[in-house]
Amino acid sequence: MPLERREIAPEKMKEQMDVCRRLQAALGPGERFAMVDTYGCQQNESDSEVLRGYLRAMGYAITDDEEKADVIVVNTCAVREHAQMRVFGNVGALSHIKRVHPERIVVLCGCMAQSEAIREQVKRSYRMVDLCFGPHELWRFPELLERTIRVHGLSGNTSRVFEATDTETVAEGLPRARDGSVKAWLTIMNGCNNFCTYCIVPYVRGRERSRRSADVVAEARELVEAGYKDITLLGQNVNSYGRGLNEDVDFAALLRKINAIPGDFRIRFMTSHPKDATETLFAAMAECEKCAPHIHLPVQSGSDRILKAMNRHYTREKYLSVVETARRYIPELVLTTDVIVGFPGETEEDFLDTLRLTEEVEFDSMFTFIYSRRPGTPAAEWPDDTPRAVIQERFDRLLQSANAVSARLHKAQEGKTVRVLIDGLSKNGEYNLSSRTGGGRLVHLRGPEDLIGQWAEVKITDSNTFALFGEKL
Ligand code: SAH
Ligand code: SF4
Ligand code: F3S
Repeated sequence: MPLERREIAPEKMKEQMDVCRRLQAALGPGERFAMVDTYGCQQNESDSEVLRGYLRAMGYAITDDEEKADVIVVNTCAVREHAQMRVFGNVGALSHIKRVHPERIVVLCGCMAQSEAIREQVKRSYRMVDLCFGPHELWRFPELLERTIRVHGLSGNTSRVFEATDTETVAEGLPRARDGSVKAWLTIMNGCNNFCTYCIVPYVRGRERSRRSADVVAEARELVEAGYKDITLLGQNVNSYGRGLNEDVDFAALLRKINAIPGDFRIRFMTSHPKDATETLFAAMAECEKCAPHIHLPVQSGSDRILKAMNRHYTREKYLSVVETARRYIPELVLTTDVIVGFPGETEEDFLDTLRLTEEVEFDSMFTFIYSRRPGTPAAEWPDDTPRAVIQERFDRLLQSANAVSARLHKAQEGKTVRVLIDGLSKNGEYNLSSRTGGGRLVHLRGPEDLIGQWAEVKITDSNTFALFGEKL
């Protein structure tokens, strides 16, 4: 598999920032608003921070109110059909705004926009979209928006800009407007090489490419200096970090480098592919005191036959042994996972293998998905005659079991004292603050709002399937 890196030269990035300044001057004084609506995974959340960073540099204030936004950006996800339908529904609904305000600009970007079929559909049927570009184009958003504003003029929606290439880029020096001041995303790599047979991500995000460790560490240091206390390293498969880089570094080494940054903060990461989760990684996690005792390890299925058809490169037994090793190194480890129900050809026996595996491992929480056919992926071509109702029934059984396990594990936390980071407001009855344990469990608390951003010792007094409740000591 070729590992290409096309690094965007610093001058090119400077040009984009010049475009921001030029646009700001051209648009003149006065208040302007922009909104970014994000679908999909944390990588998309992280990309939206870049979009907002650029928009701010152009003089837009960021708003959540689409009625008043001069620019509406919809950053889309293609991973399941349901996500796409929601995007189309919400974009379609923007036509009422365009009717009243033809000068406003609607942008559709992200993973859906990388598909030519979708771009054609947008061109034909979603006339309210003025600019449409794929994830590889993110770094040159200012240039594309400037072009759109130029062709758009004041007359409305006659000329539109569509742009998507397959150039897989690594761009440094992107501006970011981060959400909040306690938790931060840090993208360490982009793309994916794994080609799980159900998954669209490698097709829309391109081949895997890592950022240089010096750039990642420098950004982590900036975050710590800015006061962030919970940093999540992001990649589709962080365990393969470093491959194709011109330096001798792997993910365990990167963790150690970030752990060495002075300061009181916590390191998280996602996602880890089980085939690449090695003892070296768990040893690094155990050794790095800032590394949170949490791992999200998507199992997808507990049936060897299905795992093979999914191209996951591990067996049920291998997965269980990875979990055992992880727990040996990190006894307090909190494990979470993703599971797909209804993959083509899944039988009741395959499903029971999945159910049994999840009950054996006891995941703290599970993200369960019904298989969604993604045109262009191998599995989309495979026949399946399992009735929809049978798949739904399996899904319900799995969810019920997962919830029972979560509730039981959470109940076992009652009476314990845990260290949490208070990270925001909670709307849970009389509990007004939300916090997370090292393992990532959600704990609702009571207390003054100025505790947000602080660590606290908390006694767990109550729990349910989704959260713990506690009192600050
Ligand atoms: N890179 C990550 C996750 C990417 S997508 C990983 O490898 O785990 C997040 C989750 O969406 C996946 O773990 C999978 O459970 C689910 N998913 C991906 N494609 C899907 C599809 N076609 N149908 C249903 N669920 C899917
Ligand atoms: Fe998709 Fe598999 Fe890559 Fe995850 S590892 S993004 S599930 S192809
Ligand atoms: Fe969706 Fe793209 Fe993430 S398809 S899950 S937003 S990488």
